[in-house]
Amino acid sequence: MVKQIPEIENFKYLLRRYPSSPLGPKIRKIRGSHLYTDSGEKLIDFTAGYSACMAVGGSNRSVKSAIKSQMRAYSFVSALAFSNCKAAELAELLVRNAPAGLDRVMFPGCSGSEAIEAAMRMSYQVRVEQGQVGRSLFITRSNAYHGITAMALSLTSTPVYNFFRPLQAKNVVFVPQHNYFEKAELSESENEYAARSARELEEAIIATGPEKVTAFVAETMLGQLQGNVTPSGNYWFLVREICDRYGIHLILDEVYCGLGRSGKVYCCEWDGITPDFVAQGKQLSAGYGPISAVVTKSEFEEVIKAGQNRIFFASTYEAHPLAVVAAIEVQKIVQSDEMLEHVNLGNTLMKSQLTEALGNHAFFRNVRGRGMLVSLEYDCLERDLFNQDLERSMRDKHSVLLSANYHRTNFTPPSTTSLRDIERVITQYVETFLKYSLKYRPRDPVRP
Ligand SMILES: Cc1ncc(COP(=O)(O)O)c(C=O)c1O
Repeated sequence: MVKQIPEIENFKYLLRRYPSSPLGPKIRKIRGSHLYTDSGEKLIDFTAGYSACMAVGGSNRSVKSAIKSQMRAYSFVSALAFSNCKAAELAELLVRNAPAGLDRVMFPGCSGSEAIEAAMRMSYQVRVEQGQVGRSLFITRSNAYHGITAMALSLTSTPVYNFFRPLQAKNVVFVPQHNYFEKAELSESENEYAARSARELEEAIIATGPEKVTAFVAETMLGQLQGNVTPSGNYWFLVREICDRYGIHLILDEVYCGLGRSGKVYCCEWDGITPDFVAQGKQLSAGYGPISAVVTKSEFEEVIKAGQNRIFFASTYEAHPLAVVAAIEVQKIVQSDEMLEHVNLGNTLMKSQLTEALGNHAFFRNVRGRGMLVSLEYDCLERDLFNQDLERSMRDKHSVLLSANYHRTNFTPPSTTSLRDIERVITQYVETFLKYSLKYRPRDPVRP
């Protein structure tokens, strides 16, 4: 007889990330944007799976049925030894709506970090194959997050990871983050700021020596930590020109903002540029299986073919068949015209409702973001306590999960969330904001 393993109530064998913090709620099931907890609560998830990855919500029928039918055939074969037609189909889906010139896809592993890592290594390998071995430096922007693996973490300069500095790669040069809301001078227009910000990159390239730089790596739009900061004016156009002028690859990180979440399939479509490599992750399979991708150009494949004829990046579970079939179904949904239109309507609704209701509030700074990735920025004295009040009250009174932290509240519901649910949640948020803001005082003097 099979011995029943008792549920370990105190989770004592799990090494926990925050060992002395309370455990999170236990989830019994997920339907669409709603989470059902063990204790009988029904929560609407405006974080899309905490990390903004669950673009099509939980329990999507076509995704589940694709996974089941793949399992009936087989669950796993190694992409290193066998051809997987489904992986080819997924690659085609990623190329079909990519900016012109991006026509090759690699599935390097399970996470966005691995996609960044693979893009950086491939960029360097192309240099080596071309005899430019001196190009081993990467330029990136400070205060960003690109992942947890060695090279990806080396690009990360957020204070929380500072203690890893001694372990990080030294071949990284930082330029200031591109953030109009934070960095622009009082009298500076968006285009003037964009030009200054692009100039900072060019100056860093010149100071470093262009012949030493392989790539500039950055998020198309700043994500969760900074709160959905959209690029200013023609920033990316100028950056693309600079990269071309000095023969530097442009690696865009769209792990957070890619594949429909911004209201376009590739977030950089808004900016009208074609990068050399794009890292995709989270909403590739939208939480139904761990998988990430690097989308790049066949000209680099040609360079590698003529050189060592091998990409030096491999991992056991890359292009895992179950994640691949899940991703195919997810991509059919998130890349459809109807879904992109819905995401853009969601964006307009969130932004207009927040601006109309809170635009004149003493704490208000701005509302920004693309697609289903929207943030409200505010400021007041004791802002951390205000954030705690917002999160707690939204959860306890309205059963809404969202992230109110630092200087902003993020609204990143699954792309499939109905406009009715969006309108209701924003109305509840506004009420909560107005009620709790009475407890706090504006910062004095008010930042412009
Ligand atoms: C912009 C960005 N890049 C890379 C990553 C790393 O992805 P993963 O956590 O899947 O390794 C993240 C994760 O939050 C991210 O937001």
